[in-house]
Amino acid sequence: MAQQVQGVVAPGKNEPVRVETIVVPDPGPGEAVVKVQACGVCHTDLHYKQGGINDDFPFLLGHEAAGVVESVGEGVTDVAPGDFVILNWRAVCGNCRACLRGRPQYCFNTHNAAQKMTLTDGTELSPALGIGAFAEKTLVAAGQCTKVDPSVSPAVAGLLGCGVMAGIGAAINTGQVGRGDSVAVIGCGGVGDAAIVGARLAGAARIIAVDIDDRKLETAKSMGATHTVNSRSTDPVEAIRELTGGFGADVVIEAVGRPETYKQAFYARDLAGTVVLVGVPTPEMTLELSLIDVFGRGGSLKSSWYGDCLPSRDFPMLIDLHQQGRIDLGAFVTETIGLGDVEKAFARMHEGDVLRSVVVF
Ligand SMILES: NC(=O)c1ccc[n+]([C@@H]2O[C@H](COP(=O)([O-])OP(=O)(O)OC[C@H]3O[C@@H](n4cnc5c(N)ncnc54)[C@H](O)[C@@H]3O)[C@@H](O)[C@H]2O)c1
Ligand SMILES: [Zn+2]
Ligand SMILES: [Zn+2]
Repeated sequence: MAQQVQGVVAPGKNEPVRVETIVVPDPGPGEAVVKVQACGVCHTDLHYKQGGINDDFPFLLGHEAAGVVESVGEGVTDVAPGDFVILNWRAVCGNCRACLRGRPQYCFNTHNAAQKMTLTDGTELSPALGIGAFAEKTLVAAGQCTKVDPSVSPAVAGLLGCGVMAGIGAAINTGQVGRGDSVAVIGCGGVGDAAIVGARLAGAARIIAVDIDDRKLETAKSMGATHTVNSRSTDPVEAIRELTGGFGADVVIEAVGRPETYKQAFYARDLAGTVVLVGVPTPEMTLELSLIDVFGRGGSLKSSWYGDCLPSRDFPMLIDLHQQGRIDLGAFVTETIGLGDVEKAFARMHEGDVLRSVVVF
């Protein structure tokens, strides 16, 4: 029997989100229904609402979530009802060309639920990143459920489902930050701050935080930044070079997703250094760079989808480190809110008032 629950829907481009009744089908083969306990508000949800990802409205928003498996469909053996899980948007297929080459973190055929959740009039919903967890319950592919230690708070665990994992992974997986490296992070929201946490975890000696908002820079310091630069008043490229012996940082992580900040990252990196783009641009953005500089500066220009994470490997490991007090994921939760407060949370995110607002059920 399909169930009816409340969920947050983005009905059309730039229209305010609404709490609507959602129909959640029973799980089919390979699927699971999860009772959502917490779901963070990520900037990517706002991109969806603004039409910056695609035009498949209406969207069921929310994708940074943790909860308890309620029921599973035929053939599901990895998770069972009662399991505490983080939802991931990288349920690896095991069969694509990336998986077959032993690189499941790049899986090109990740699984989502085959059935659709709908509005009560039958309109099919597009769940954000194949998850759709601003809802009391959601239907996902069973592989999107990653079991973790149930003693951790759901509001904290859920953040690993997207932004915090993307940021930590951008530093440790994509950027391959190592002991003694200098790292600069441009854009210190939830994702950028997580990159700072990741850089510290990897042993970076110098971590330079760049943002246009002094409040964000204060938080970045508490997350592990050793230096801060307000790029509204100071040229960040010059400042990063000055702080790195005149050369630039070994790894620069761009966590904004704009051409001008990408250019800053490109020029703020040392010769043979690495740029990691983890911020998500919108389709109309273009970039102009001197090709001789691309060549002459060497190194690598990388993009990081989901921090190149492997959920089954990285989620339990990071939860362990959090439980041991070696990283503080709780510091990312600025406020907990209700399902009806998502529109307000977008405004607060836009104003720079929060790292993460987390919907709790
Ligand atoms: N690659 C991935 O897998 C992945 C996953 C999650 C989120 N994201 C993307 O990461 C980006 C950041 O997400 P978030 O949730 O941290 O957003 P956020 O809104 O919390 O943070 C963005 C930060 O960038 C700062 N900023 C804005 N313009 C700037 C500029 N010109 N120079 C310097 N700083 C500037 C803001 O002050 C803010 O602190 C978004 O584009 C989001 O879509 C990517
Ligand atoms: Zn695959
Ligand atoms: Zn996200």
